[in-house]
Amino acid sequence: MKVLTFDSAAEIGRVAGEMFVQTVLQKSNAVLGLATGATPLPTYDYMVKAYESGKVSFKNVSTFNLDEYCDLPKAHKNSYFTFMNENLFSKIDLNPDNVHFLDGNAADAEAESARYAAEIEAAGGIDVQFLGIGRNGHIAFNEPSDRFTNDAYKVHLTESTIEANSIYFDDVPMPRYAMTMGVGSVMRARKIVLVATGKSKAQAVLSMIKGDIDPHCPASILKAHPDCTVLLDTDAAALL
Ligand code: PGA
Repeated sequence: MKVLTFDSAAEIGRVAGEMFVQTVLQKSNAVLGLATGATPLPTYDYMVKAYESGKVSFKNVSTFNLDEYCDLPKAHKNSYFTFMNENLFSKIDLNPDNVHFLDGNAADAEAESARYAAEIEAAGGIDVQFLGIGRNGHIAFNEPSDRFTNDAYKVHLTESTIEANSIYFDDVPMPRYAMTMGVGSVMRARKIVLVATGKSKAQAVLSMIKGDIDPHCPASILKAHPDCTVLLDTDAAALL
C-alpha cells in the first residue's frame, strides 16, 4: 500500500483524476470502478475538465459503481445513479450503455449479485477502482463485521453510516439497506485508489494503515492488494 499525503482535497482530486485519465489514455476501453459521496467530487471535476479540454474521451470506457440504496427509486434525487449522472456521467462522453449499477430494488439480491459479477467479468475486470472510506472503516458499504465479504450482497447499514449520510435526505428517510459490491469484488480490481479527506476519517485511516488486517476495519484488507494507492489530506493523516 502506497500512502501519499497532500495539503488539500483539491490537490488530491488532481492526482486521483489524473490516474483515471492516464488509465483511459493508455486503454481507451478501460473499466473504471466508481464511488459516490463527497470524497470523489474533486476527482470527478478533474475528469470532466480533462474531457472538456479535449485531453481524453470516455466514449469506449465502461463503469461499475460500488453500491446503490435499496427501497429508493433509481431516479430519486438521492440515488447513487442520480449522483453519478449529475456529477460525472452527464458531463462527459460516456456511453450510457456502458454504465453499470447494482439494482437496489432487485427482488432477488443473490441473482442481482451474480448478474453484476458476470457483467464485471464480461467487461474484463475493473482496471482502476476508486474508493472512499467510511468513518467506521467501511469500503463501499462493507460495514465492520466478523468476516470479509466476497461478491455483491444486500447489507443492513450501520448507525454510523446512517448518521453520516442522513444529511443528504430531506424528503424521505434514508434507506436502511443497500446493495454493495463485496470486499472480494473490490480486491479483484487491478489497481485501487483510496482517497480520505477530513478529520472525521483520521481514526479509520489509522486503523486501515497501522492496524491488523481485520474485518472490523474492512479497509484494512487493502494492505493485501498488490497495487493500492492511498491519498490523504493532512487532516485525514493526522493520527498516523
Ligand atoms: P464520503 O463517504 O465520501 O461522503 O465521506 C465515503 C464513504 O462512506 O465511503
